[in-house]
Amino acid sequence: MGSVKKQGDYMAIQVDERLQHIAFIMDGNGRWAKKHGMPREYGHSVGASTFEKVVRYCGDVGIKTVTVYAFSTENWKRPEVEVKAIMLIFGEYLKKAAKKADEYGLRVVFLGDKRVFPENIAKDMTALEIATAKHPLTLNIAINYGGRDEIVHAVNTLIGMGKTSITEDDISAHLYTAHCPPPDLIVRTGAEKRLSNFLLWQSAYAELYFCDTLWPDMSEAEIDAAIEDFYKRKRRFGGV
Ligand code: FPP
Repeated sequence: MGSVKKQGDYMAIQVDERLQHIAFIMDGNGRWAKKHGMPREYGHSVGASTFEKVVRYCGDVGIKTVTVYAFSTENWKRPEVEVKAIMLIFGEYLKKAAKKADEYGLRVVFLGDKRVFPENIAKDMTALEIATAKHPLTLNIAINYGGRDEIVHAVNTLIGMGKTSITEDDISAHLYTAHCPPPDLIVRTGAEKRLSNFLLWQSAYAELYFCDTLWPDMSEAEIDAAIEDFYKRKRRFGGV
């Protein structure tokens, strides 16, 4: 961790090459809504604003790749009204995403199988990926994403290519994240301490940070705390 740079009225930490990729499990929207006497859908809506704030801040502190877990392959099991609300919020985000991505220099990549989405949404997702492909920072949005599903998908792709023996590099190269380095730091809000099928392959040597903050309350100060904690860790990647 290097210098401290003034960002408006906030002093932002600046990271170095040791922290290139940060990933977030955005947990706690439902509990936050309950705490405020509101329906769960409202928590997701506020959570979406928090997501935009967090992505922007990570860019400000010099992190080149941000990944967020927006919707898992298991989240379809939630009540229909909640799933519909999340998809509506996502659709709204897609409408303004190209402009925001231009403004912040973000390349947007979706992790997960797009084929489950309505055709117009899937088309907008692909269009956004193409339109932002040359931007310097990367934002991965994991949506309809599952870590196990991703590994199976990679292996099936390799089988389809006629491979009869595969290496770790082969699998890494066929994950949804083939375009970026693995996460250095995974942050989970909402007090639970598990990965919930997120980046299972890529998290092999990631540092994990768990906090009680509910996602809609995620702040710049909490991100700074996670970064400071990360820099205290000794990363050995299996060596001594
Ligand atoms: C987990 O909280 C959150 C989700 C499953 C959905 C996250 C979605 C968003 C932040 C909005 C859409 C995203 C984008 C990219 C625009 P939870 O519902 O499990 O909370 P709980 O554990 O308190 O019930």
